[in-house]
Amino acid sequence: MVKYLITGARGQLGLEMASRIEGSHNKALSFSHEDLDITDLMTVRQCVRDNQPDGIINCASYNAVDQAENDWQRAYLVNGIGAQNLAIAADEHNIPLVHFSTHFVFSGEQRIPYTLADRPDPISRYGKSKLLGEEGVRSFSRSFIIVRTGWLFGEHGKPSASFPAKLLEWMEKKNTLSIVDDQIAAPSYVPDLVAASLSLLQKKAWGIYHFNNGGSCSRYEWASYMAGKIAWKGTITPARTADFPGGACCPRHLPP
Ligand SMILES: NC(=O)c1ccc[n+]([C@@H]2O[C@H](COP(=O)([O-])OP(=O)(O)OC[C@H]3O[C@@H](n4cnc5c(N)ncnc54)[C@H](OP(=O)(O)O)[C@@H]3O)[C@@H](O)[C@H]2O)c1
Repeated sequence: MVKYLITGARGQLGLEMASRIEGSHNKALSFSHEDLDITDLMTVRQCVRDNQPDGIINCASYNAVDQAENDWQRAYLVNGIGAQNLAIAADEHNIPLVHFSTHFVFSGEQRIPYTLADRPDPISRYGKSKLLGEEGVRSFSRSFIIVRTGWLFGEHGKPSASFPAKLLEWMEKKNTLSIVDDQIAAPSYVPDLVAASLSLLQKKAWGIYHFNNGGSCSRYEWASYMAGKIAWKGTITPARTADFPGGACCPRHLPP
């Protein structure tokens, strides 16, 4: 039996990760934000020392993309230093670290799909904070897997982490919605992301990966599809990102 320490274990990805690991008769040592704050290096090191896991899976993150424009110190701390702290602890015990990043490390200006050969050029503070985390992991961990992904949706977690869950909340409260049609990406189903990441870990396939499910759509197309599926009676109108000033600069074209 293999023991994995999971951080951010009450989040969308953390919950699915723990359930999958337990389902495969391995042990998930699940730590929520309350149990383990990844921004505190001494606490992180102590936790790894006490629990002696065979690997660390970092599902913790500051994901409030728009808020990160002002609250950037917190975003940099959690996504940058927090990830680095886990890499330091993993390295100290010579165990692997799986870390999740985002397609927001790219600007989204490139009209063809991004590959691992493309140089990250984030345009938002959230994207910069996640790139900082990648750099911390690469610098301090000898055996790491970084999975860049985007537009997660699944069975668990807070609506703030998943566009479909957010959409269902809006659809309950409103009759008309304006949804942007100039942000295009490939949604990622959390159970598929978990299966792919654990498979890489089992194969010791250290490195950086891009993971999304196949196909791509705009947020407007995604919302319209969902409205059809639940026979929502309201109206959805297409909007532009610029119609909602004050948020982060979201990358616009991020198909896989
Ligand atoms: N959701 C998406 O569409 C998306 C897209 C691209 C990449 N990703 C990446 O996928 C990963 C998982 O995201 P998710 O959707 O599962 O997000 P999530 O549901 O928001 O989960 C993140 C978890 O991290 C916890 N956390 C925040 N600060 C922490 C800290 N200092 N120490 C320990 N835990 C802390 C949060 O706890 P509290 O809520 O209690 O603070 C939350 O439970 C992240 O790396 C994220 O960047 C997600």
